[in-house]
Amino acid sequence: MSDHWPFLQSTRDIHVTGAEGAYLFTKNGPLLDAAGGAIVVNVGHGRQEVADAVGRATAQSSYVVPPWLTDERVALVERLREDWLPESLSRLHMTSGGSEAVESAMKIAIMHHASRGQPKKCRIIGRSISYHGTTLATTAVGGHEARKVGIAHVLNPHPVVPTPYVLRCPDTDPLRYFVEELEKTIASEGAETIAALLAEPITGSSGGAIVPPDGYWEAVRRICDQNDILLIMDEVMTGFGRTGTDFGYQHWPIEPDILIAGKGLAGGYAPLVGVFATDRVAQPIAEHGYNVMFHTFGAHPAACAAAVSVLTILRRENLVERSRMLGERLHDRLTSAFSNHPHVAEVRGRGLLQAIEIVRDRDMLDPFPVEDSISGRVVGEGLKRGIFFYGGGTGVVRDIVCMGPPFVIEETDVDRMVETLLECVDKVTA
Ligand SMILES: Cc1ncc(COP(=O)(O)O)c(C=O)c1O
Repeated sequence: MSDHWPFLQSTRDIHVTGAEGAYLFTKNGPLLDAAGGAIVVNVGHGRQEVADAVGRATAQSSYVVPPWLTDERVALVERLREDWLPESLSRLHMTSGGSEAVESAMKIAIMHHASRGQPKKCRIIGRSISYHGTTLATTAVGGHEARKVGIAHVLNPHPVVPTPYVLRCPDTDPLRYFVEELEKTIASEGAETIAALLAEPITGSSGGAIVPPDGYWEAVRRICDQNDILLIMDEVMTGFGRTGTDFGYQHWPIEPDILIAGKGLAGGYAPLVGVFATDRVAQPIAEHGYNVMFHTFGAHPAACAAAVSVLTILRRENLVERSRMLGERLHDRLTSAFSNHPHVAEVRGRGLLQAIEIVRDRDMLDPFPVEDSISGRVVGEGLKRGIFFYGGGTGVVRDIVCMGPPFVIEETDVDRMVETLLECVDKVTA
């Protein structure tokens, strides 16, 4: 089978036969899912009520074109507007994947300016360490070098600003440095050419849960406003409770113009990602008669039903708060385990999105050679010990190990994750 799936041969041959809570059951035994899949699963595996909701939706209608209403679509829109989204983000567009959603958001930003008579305001600023998807446009705007290999020559260039990665900041005042870099880029490229800044509030697996310095987002928001640049928050990974708040941007007193939030929306039970925008963004597009084209499977009724059920569980069981509390426990345990480790430069993250960065030399911060595949080997050691960790990095930033377990994980399993990770890091770096 591994010759045919995935497209190119995989080194790991794992066959999952079932799942429950924070565990996956494989043909070779149970695995603690410390990665929540691809940092997706929030309410846990094996929820019968979600499966039932999907079943009912499927029985009611198999497929309905996205612009039409179904009971599940209406329920999801109402739930999102009443219980999750800020009042300002009143326009909703649904896709089935993160890449499609990010690309839709980029198009909406470009159309917004074009419909206001500013077609030259069409470029999107990306950040140096980031991942926004796998299509040509989202790969181009992203800062993930390893995923550009083989296609770099056809990717459109974008203005790039540094991700606020304090650990390796070349300046003693990181906040000033990162804010000035953005100002300089806008000045040199010309604000009249820039439609939007695209960024994750807390950088996901590409950087390993990089949290910006306080004051960064407030300054970025102000600079975007001053230059008529839309702020697009990519919360495909951080949305719906992953970092201990409903959305990652809510750690700071700002709001985006366009919010993309996905993996956790349907908790992994169905493919569904939302693009949410303000009236200010959408109004000129509507008045100008431009179309925000749907994807065939966007807002699929069964996916909307899964999402309503997952959002209900998140609130009923207070799981966003649990993500915050268990995230603190995980962060504290990781900090105690690794604070004096010679090969761990940093423990970082918020809520149940945490990561460690492994280095050859903790003082010099120099990485291990790429060929050593440190994070891949740590993930391999974890699997041998029954835990699935999530390797991160971009190739340039590397040797990152991420953790993003389901929010229902038990405290004892949080502790086991840390003990096992320490063993794995020791083994691989010895
Ligand atoms: C922040 C972010 N944006 C976009 C994507 C792309 O999503 P998808 O793989 O569903 O296309 C991802 C996927 O990991 C992501 O983490």
